[in-house]
Amino acid sequence: MRLFATMSLIVTLCASSALAQSFTTLKGHGGPIMGLAVSGEGQVATASFDNSVGLWDGRNPRWLEGHEAAVNAVAFLPDGRVVSAGDDFTVRIWDGAQSRIIGQHKGKVTALEIAPETGMIASASWDGTIGLWPLAEGSGRVIKLRDSGVNDIVFGDGGDSLFAATTKGEVLLFDLTKDAPPRPLVKHGFGVNELALGPQGRWLAYGAVDGGTRILDAVTGAALADFTLDRKPILSMVHHAATGLLAVGDGQGYIMLVDTKTWRIRQDFRATRQGPIWALAFSPDGAVVWAGGLDDVAYGWPIALMDQFDPAMGQERSFLKDVGEMTNGERQFMRKCSICHALEAGASRKAGPTLHGVFGRSAGRLPGYPYSPTLAGSDIIWSDATIDQLFDLGPDHYIPGSKMPMQVIAAPQDRRDLIEFLKTYSQKEETKP
Ligand code: HEC
Repeated sequence: MRLFATMSLIVTLCASSALAQSFTTLKGHGGPIMGLAVSGEGQVATASFDNSVGLWDGRNPRWLEGHEAAVNAVAFLPDGRVVSAGDDFTVRIWDGAQSRIIGQHKGKVTALEIAPETGMIASASWDGTIGLWPLAEGSGRVIKLRDSGVNDIVFGDGGDSLFAATTKGEVLLFDLTKDAPPRPLVKHGFGVNELALGPQGRWLAYGAVDGGTRILDAVTGAALADFTLDRKPILSMVHHAATGLLAVGDGQGYIMLVDTKTWRIRQDFRATRQGPIWALAFSPDGAVVWAGGLDDVAYGWPIALMDQFDPAMGQERSFLKDVGEMTNGERQFMRKCSICHALEAGASRKAGPTLHGVFGRSAGRLPGYPYSPTLAGSDIIWSDATIDQLFDLGPDHYIPGSKMPMQVIAAPQDRRDLIEFLKTYSQKEETKP
């Protein structure tokens, strides 16, 4: 008995020191992480809502800046260069810190996929098209879907075929060697967000808005397994061929690991206390799964030790605070504004300008922030009354042409509480609500 107790203590100690060594957080982005990629050498790239791509050397970021809106997807080319795409409708290829637009859509780009065999980059967009952009010289090609946006794509057959997941809930299979209409493989009924293809195209996994998580025979479309739980939506999915692990991330912050050799759930673990897992990627050896979401941080979870993590890792992040502890004004700000606005003075990496000292300031005048021409040329002065109107009418009506997202705060009391909170915290030197 004694011996047993001592042994388990040793095991625990070893595990926690390994944990300290191998658990990694990558900090620096000023907004949620929407996309992740890991190169063959294990280098991590992050795509963020803060309009930048982070290229990480260990824990040190290099920022690739050039996108004019949130970056949703990032991928490594076989030669180590980075490709990224996002809400500014562009697909960009990076040479050092410079980017070149290689693909242009008419709506947000949701996913990227590389086919090294054919030298093609594919992009999925909510404009209802799939872009195919050659790495070498030459012009791209655009495949138009009938009337649905595209959420995800994956190449099959060494780049000769392509599976596409649509906002209308279909999975379509395109033969890229022919100019023929696609073959519908799945009609799910709810939007399909994510796809992953098994080795030699033996199976196809998909994840949907209603939480549907299914595995199909990629040729016939026949059902092989169903991992649908009560959590939704499915937001990320990635497969590691050598270990056979399929990782699935959802809107409630869980990462489920499925062993595709036995079709059993190997682990199901809550990676964040709150908020979605938008991005997942495996390390080259499959020992670590990288995850990104609402938090401005990318986490590297060593799979062998996953069960032992406390999701919050003791970090006091204000948006992780219990909502019961916040005033209504703080809650309004945390939920509706903090993703894009800091309250501290100085530059932030967030998508919007800091709201520090916003009361009494003329709109569009914070030095160094790239405002839309509309806001930069505006004669609004921010006050209780103008901020109230901004969210009573919504930015799209109050300042048409502004980069601010459409958003209305319907209840007058919520607007008053928010303004009260902003007034208190936007004027402090050190604001840590
Ligand atoms: C998804 C990102 C996003 C969210 C969420 C958001 N904003 Fe903004 N906000 C922006 C951007 C981008 C700008 C700059 C707009 C422009 O240049 O047209 C902006 C500008 C502003 C400005 C004008 C600042 C100035 O210097 O003129 C105010 C005030 C503001 N936001 C308040 C808020 C408040 C309050 C909330 C929450 C209720 C909020 N915003 C939510 C992105 C956002």
